[in-house]
Amino acid sequence: MTPMRLGRRPFMLGASALVTVAGLPAMGQTMPVATPLIESGRVIERRLVAAERPMHIPADHGPLVRGWSFDDEPLPVIRLARGDRLRVRVDNRLEQFITVHWHGIRVPNAMDGVPFLTQAPILPGESFTYDFVPPDTGTFFFHTHCNTIEQLGRGLAGVVIVEGDEVRPHDAELVCVMRDWRIDAKGAFTAFTSAKAAARSGTFGAVRTINDQDVPVLEVPAGGDVRLRLLNIDPTRFAEIGLEGAPAAVIAVDGNGVAPLPLTSWSLGPAMRIDLSLRAPGPGEEAVLYDYFAAEPVPLARLVGAGLPLARGAFQPKPLIASDFAQPDLANAETFRLTFQAAAAASELVLADGQALRLADAMCLSTDTRWAINRQSWPEEGHLQLPPPLFDLARGRSYVIELVNASQYRHPIHLHGLTFQVLDPRQGAPGQRADTVLLGPRDRVRIAFVADAPGDWMLHCHLIEHQETGMMGWFRVA
Ligand code: C2O
Ligand code: CU
Repeated sequence: MTPMRLGRRPFMLGASALVTVAGLPAMGQTMPVATPLIESGRVIERRLVAAERPMHIPADHGPLVRGWSFDDEPLPVIRLARGDRLRVRVDNRLEQFITVHWHGIRVPNAMDGVPFLTQAPILPGESFTYDFVPPDTGTFFFHTHCNTIEQLGRGLAGVVIVEGDEVRPHDAELVCVMRDWRIDAKGAFTAFTSAKAAARSGTFGAVRTINDQDVPVLEVPAGGDVRLRLLNIDPTRFAEIGLEGAPAAVIAVDGNGVAPLPLTSWSLGPAMRIDLSLRAPGPGEEAVLYDYFAAEPVPLARLVGAGLPLARGAFQPKPLIASDFAQPDLANAETFRLTFQAAAAASELVLADGQALRLADAMCLSTDTRWAINRQSWPEEGHLQLPPPLFDLARGRSYVIELVNASQYRHPIHLHGLTFQVLDPRQGAPGQRADTVLLGPRDRVRIAFVADAPGDWMLHCHLIEHQETGMMGWFRVA
């Protein structure tokens, strides 16, 4: 261990486990790096029961909705410290099969929750136990990976927070989860998709929520420093996030610490997350979280200062402790190009026989194919099993993937199994880590990583209607 690093006492829990050492830069671009993972010995056990549970949406005053959730609280939040082992038993009390994917967490392949690719589906009445030690701190979420357009649309998701990345704790923390509900005024679900919307920018919900509430009012310690973990788990919605009434900085992207960057606005596509550090307004004053991606800015949440004002001095957000990733060797990296495009001939998707149809169903892919990656829609015509991988990667080698959007729609592209550096981000700093990257219309963005996780991993657009109509594939690291 070099003296510049932070030590972690393996048997202490939470943020208090972090001790600073002399020589740590107080501010600026240099980020402290976490020590290699040491298991804490602590096991966090959770039981999730996927079932239909009536819930009011919006939570405070809305109609009763036949939502699906993993727990009695509609949006369970699992918190652990870096080094803790998470053991989650998932019971399926729905009438369709499920698997659970831990979005952004670098899990072993067998825990990745993709039906048939990494595990057998959890059938109705059955259960499966996920068991892993998340290697990185950050803000993550989990969702099913099958018929996602309906399952996520009905609410099956939750949050995972892995603590231990703060050099100096904030005075308070908020978790804000953005999702829409495709419901009518009586609370009945409306269509999750249509052929027309799937070929364009997707189906939007009429009821927008943060933590299932309609513009919640959230108390924050007046004058204090607040960490706001913001997750967009909607299948479709892109937001342009801004905060008015309080200074704020982006301190993490997809859970990965970045050098604090003053927040002006930030595009947050489906599955993307940012962590903000902000200075809470004074007693009784408010700051408003907005989505500017609309004709009129849409308020999402109100932060109201409460209590005696804290005297915190000038607002100077501290960098988080970054996870210790292998740095890609760009000089010797092999490059692959992926082109995201409309399917050239959607009607040509003819499944060869009954087995192929069953497999297609099982993979939760509608037979309505609108989108493709490198001219291949999954499943490719005539394949009885998985399509061939998009690419084969050698374990331990560095790769650059050039993501090319040949369409006029936006695509949040997500890779399972690893996080990558974004070499030419459209927001934030080059080289920042992410698990989902936004491709603008006709855009081209390069990402780089070390293929250090063996297994078969998904790669897909996280606009779920695009994913489920063909914009997905997989790659193998061996
Ligand atoms: Cu949240 Cu396959 O992804
Ligand atoms: Cu897309």
